[in-house]
Amino acid sequence: MAKKAFIKRMFSEISGEYDRLNRIISWNLDLRWRRQAVTYLGAHYRVMDICAGTGDMALVLSENKIAPLQVVLVDLSLEMLLLAKYKLSKGRNGTEFLFVQADGENLPFRNEAFGAVTMGFGLRNIEDIQRFMVELARATDANSEMVFLDIAHPESKIVSKLFYIYFYRFVPFFTKFITGKDYAYRYLPASLRVFYTQKQFVEKLRRCGFENVCYMNILTGIGAIYYIKK
Ligand SMILES: C[S@@+](CC[C@H](N)C(=O)[O-])C[C@H]1O[C@@H](n2cnc3c(N)ncnc32)[C@H](O)[C@@H]1O
Repeated sequence: MAKKAFIKRMFSEISGEYDRLNRIISWNLDLRWRRQAVTYLGAHYRVMDICAGTGDMALVLSENKIAPLQVVLVDLSLEMLLLAKYKLSKGRNGTEFLFVQADGENLPFRNEAFGAVTMGFGLRNIEDIQRFMVELARATDANSEMVFLDIAHPESKIVSKLFYIYFYRFVPFFTKFITGKDYAYRYLPASLRVFYTQKQFVEKLRRCGFENVCYMNILTGIGAIYYIKK
């Protein structure tokens, strides 16, 4: 099965368990990391949350000090978006939420429609990063900014060893135990294993035409926040 079809099916199948597993696997740190990530953004009218999943990034965006007026949640999986819609149905701080089932590599939006883009834990799932970045560049305005949050490669040797035992041995075992579907969470460590290191990814972004890029490690690189200014 092609990667995109596999990803879409996998996230749709685990959508009901996604939030609970995220909290348990990350020891609740994912929420704090999302809040940290959105603080790098300035004021924007309309923000795209790409690979939006069950809407946690959109939720923290709407709770941020400088909340956008509109957040457009984009995801391949209808099941994930339906859960996001339910979660965000009350609306926060006056932020309006729109939900679009679409592929980040082929966005159904006009040029320069967005002032900013957020993405939580989506990077490793993108099949063609170059094409994805070209699409984001097209759909964002000249002063736009983007923040991508994801798990990453620890840059401290000790943390790296502990993290790899946890992430590559414990997490798949544990999630199989909870969900009975081990393939989805075998995918999680596998997707990080083949993904760029933070420095390599910054280089990749530069080769895609984004000059103003930096990253901030979280817990020496267990997680990373990439900040891109157009
Ligand atoms: C790990 S989840 C992240 C969800 C959410 N952003 C969060 O912070 O928890 C990745 C999401 O990306 C979506 N996804 C993967 N590839 C995509 C693509 N090419 N275009 C749009 N969404 C995609 C999946 O369906 C899934 O919901």
